Amino acid sequence: MSTDEERRGREGLAPIADEVDRLRRIARDAVGGACDEFFAAYDAEPEPRRLAAWLGPRCWREIDYTFMLNEEIRRYGLSFERKHVAAIARHSLQEAEHYEMIGRIIERLGGSVPTSVPDAVRPWSEYLWACLDRHRLSAIAAWYVSETSATGTFDATLAAARRYGLDDMLKIYQHVIKDEEFHLGLGRLLLDRYIETDEDLDEVLRSMRGMTDLVAHSYRPAAVSAT
Ligand SMILES: [Fe+2]
Ligand SMILES: [Fe+2]
Repeated sequence: MSTDEERRGREGLAPIADEVDRLRRIARDAVGGACDEFFAAYDAEPEPRRLAAWLGPRCWREIDYTFMLNEEIRRYGLSFERKHVAAIARHSLQEAEHYEMIGRIIERLGGSVPTSVPDAVRPWSEYLWACLDRHRLSAIAAWYVSETSATGTFDATLAAARRYGLDDMLKIYQHVIKDEEFHLGLGRLLLDRYIETDEDLDEVLRSMRGMTDLVAHSYRPAAVSAT
């Protein structure tokens, strides 16, 4: 039996599928709830700079993903199939495009685009990078939960863009949402393909639980500064 054949018979996400789904649900609901609260407060006082401030940490996450994905490739890429390296690179490019596009919305709203990690997302960023140091699948697992959590904000964000006539924001988020389907599919595919041992399973679960705790408690509307 070849190594590939042996590997295909093992692990993958199946042994932890229920727990992964549970964590993803918690992350998505928590972040979605925080987003709903933000827009409810914003409706009472729709000052464009507040929206710019809300988008700032999200914009930073886009470029931090690019940095992290490129580093994932540099450190671990040669342990993956070439087609998966290419897919991670495509994901990385799309995150850089999101940074550029969301940056445009922020500037249009009168804000400034972050060029260093904002305080509101520092714990998130540090956690992601610490995961990268641990294991080749750890940062992928953390990003999979984090990307899932962001999907909880999409409906409210599109609705707000429509409500306030922000056509650029509407178009850009529609584009981002389409890309995110690819990112989530890729995250799941990579985890399922490369989890081979019980240690891999433990590392993936550890990353996902940590990221779930983080996103469920750190994206509160109160954390958004007024300017
Ligand atoms: Fe993105
Ligand atoms: Fe993404």
